[in-house]
Amino acid sequence: MVSREIVPGIFWVGALDFDRRIFDELIPLPEGTSYNSYLIRGSEKTALIDTVDPTKEFELVSNIVKMGVERIDYIVINHAEQDHSGSLPMIMEFFPDAVVVTNEKCRDFLEALLHIPTERFRIIKNGDTLSLGDRTLEFFITPWTHWPETQITYLNEDKILFSCDLFGFHMATTDLFITDEAAAYRSAKRYYAEIMMPFRGSIRGYVEKVKALGPVIIAPSHGPLNKNPPFILDAYADWVSDNVKNEVIIPYISMHGSTQKMVDHLTSALIGRGITVKPFNLTKTDIGELAMALVDPATVVIATPTVLFGPHPQVVSATFLANMLKPKVRFASVIGSFGWGGKAVDTITKMLDHVKVEVLEPVMVKGLPDEAAMKSLDRLADDILKKHQEINIV
Ligand code: FEO
Repeated sequence: MVSREIVPGIFWVGALDFDRRIFDELIPLPEGTSYNSYLIRGSEKTALIDTVDPTKEFELVSNIVKMGVERIDYIVINHAEQDHSGSLPMIMEFFPDAVVVTNEKCRDFLEALLHIPTERFRIIKNGDTLSLGDRTLEFFITPWTHWPETQITYLNEDKILFSCDLFGFHMATTDLFITDEAAAYRSAKRYYAEIMMPFRGSIRGYVEKVKALGPVIIAPSHGPLNKNPPFILDAYADWVSDNVKNEVIIPYISMHGSTQKMVDHLTSALIGRGITVKPFNLTKTDIGELAMALVDPATVVIATPTVLFGPHPQVVSATFLANMLKPKVRFASVIGSFGWGGKAVDTITKMLDHVKVEVLEPVMVKGLPDEAAMKSLDRLADDILKKHQEINIV
């Protein structure tokens, strides 16, 4: 790997990870990822912004050493998660005089996760600045731009925002800057859904704050850099807003075909009413795709067969995930099939406690759906249309 100059005196020194396919043992990474670390040379001091995943620590060190850097004065840590902080112990060994600059909460995490000694820290507060001579770093503490300790760092003179996880996305590419905004939009939306969506209330304020700063470059900790900040800021403004779309997503499992027939019928009924439908067969769906599909729709209909006395475990898993991600969906329902009774509806609706939804009358049928069941699904499609009309999205 090699370092890359962003503007004179500011370098990308991170690592690309083309082969990584899962993050946190949960999130699929179809396009790999990168761990972006940045070196800023001021007239008096040199700062490193974030490190890289510990699996790539030698690449980070090699990039810095090959540049002939003999001294790092400050290592700014925006976020304690190990994909950005994990190489800190090694960098601190190479540069024993370097001071770790971060906020108090992040310091606590770094002490707990990496056993960084307390005396190596310089603690900053929201709005504090740090001079590198002719360049000035300004820190903004932005809790829940993944974890509660996360901050962003702004390089005032160059108008570069080091936004850490915020505005980033998982993509390994040798392009330093975004070259394909349509591809970047899709990856960034997926990343937002997986990482940021549960905190959309907080992030709304950060988007406004960053717009007011007016950066000319956004340099996140994952993915290529952004020379057109309004592109991602406008996308985020849409995603974090309360606006929902005339869409229904249907995560489902079918064991013997009954639930599949119901999903197919409801899908057709909704299409016939002018509603966009996205069915997700959970045996085939990448959960990142499902998360991304949860960003916009007004309604989710969860479809499940009955296993023993409850919903299929994969449906339970998807419902648990959807509840954690707290999408802005307004309406929900449950459809499916059972053999000898069960509590699928009760179990699923109780799991949606983090999502403020109105539950529309479910449709559960015994065995193979008959004509009456299909009529009930038509009634559910009518109910959904009516609700979408009431909130003026049709
Ligand atoms: Fe990319 Fe929350 O770490």
